[in-house]
Amino acid sequence: PLSIVRTVADLRAQVTAWRKAGESVGLVPTMGALHAGHLSLVTLAKTKAQRVVASVFVNPTQFAPHEDFDAYPRDEAKDAGLLESAGCDLLFAPTVAEMYAPGFSTTVTVSGVSESLDGAARPGHFAGVATVVSKLLLQCGPHVAVFGEKDYQQLQVIKRLVADLDIPVEVIGAPTARADDGLALSSRNAYLTPAEREAAPSLAAALRDAVERLRDGVAVDRVENTGRAAMERAGFSRIDYFEVRDASSLTHLGPGPITGPARILAAGILGKTRLIDNMAV
Ligand code: PAJ
Repeated sequence: PLSIVRTVADLRAQVTAWRKAGESVGLVPTMGALHAGHLSLVTLAKTKAQRVVASVFVNPTQFAPHEDFDAYPRDEAKDAGLLESAGCDLLFAPTVAEMYAPGFSTTVTVSGVSESLDGAARPGHFAGVATVVSKLLLQCGPHVAVFGEKDYQQLQVIKRLVADLDIPVEVIGAPTARADDGLALSSRNAYLTPAEREAAPSLAAALRDAVERLRDGVAVDRVENTGRAAMERAGFSRIDYFEVRDASSLTHLGPGPITGPARILAAGILGKTRLIDNMAV
């Protein structure tokens, strides 16, 4: 059965007891509104560790003032039920006051990998993510922590910060869970109107097409232009990026054909919803 704790002290007590009993611990950080993508992270964590902790915390510091922090879907009872059926052992669901006590003054910023793409489109976002993930890793002290490739830049930012700060945890990336029509599962898909939901899979289709063209040796700048045009045709009102990047540093590639491991990343606004997705080349 799933237990729920709300304080860092109670989280540490449980993890310490497991570690004393010789059990390994995996952490899956989330903001709740859980779907099959999140649950696939729990399933993967269970293959890597004997005990799995999931955190549900809608982190205010990674939302810009105009973003959807207040509107972000919250349903703890439903999330707890889903986590329990996925085999999660412990839910850590702290309050904002537990995470950010009066006088809180520290920010973790990761330069380089966090600066472009979503970092440029959402100023301050990755500092909020890096700070809260640093806290969660230090609060829980897991052997492994699982993050989705759905947020590929976030995964690279977290790998960088864990290496740079010598946090003793293995960071594991999990493949993106998708709907049958290819749309990457996301809590924000709930905001889409039926017509937008029908147009949304064109983002994944544009990425798949781009992967094929790059493998055929088509130049990076041509592939990026075709991808942006496809997003425009699908009805995206703003295209934040459609870019081919180095798979780990996320530095620019091109303009010609690619030579090493690459990732195509895309983001834009459909209706009122910001969608992001990416694929390996
Ligand atoms: P959230 O958006 O709730 O996502 C929690 C985790 O689930 C992240 O690692 C994300 O990449 C992963 N995820 C989301 N959709 C997925 C999908 N379709 N397939 C596979 N994995 C998926 O990302 C965050 O929360 C926050 O930034 C957080 C890391 C918790 C820090 O606040």
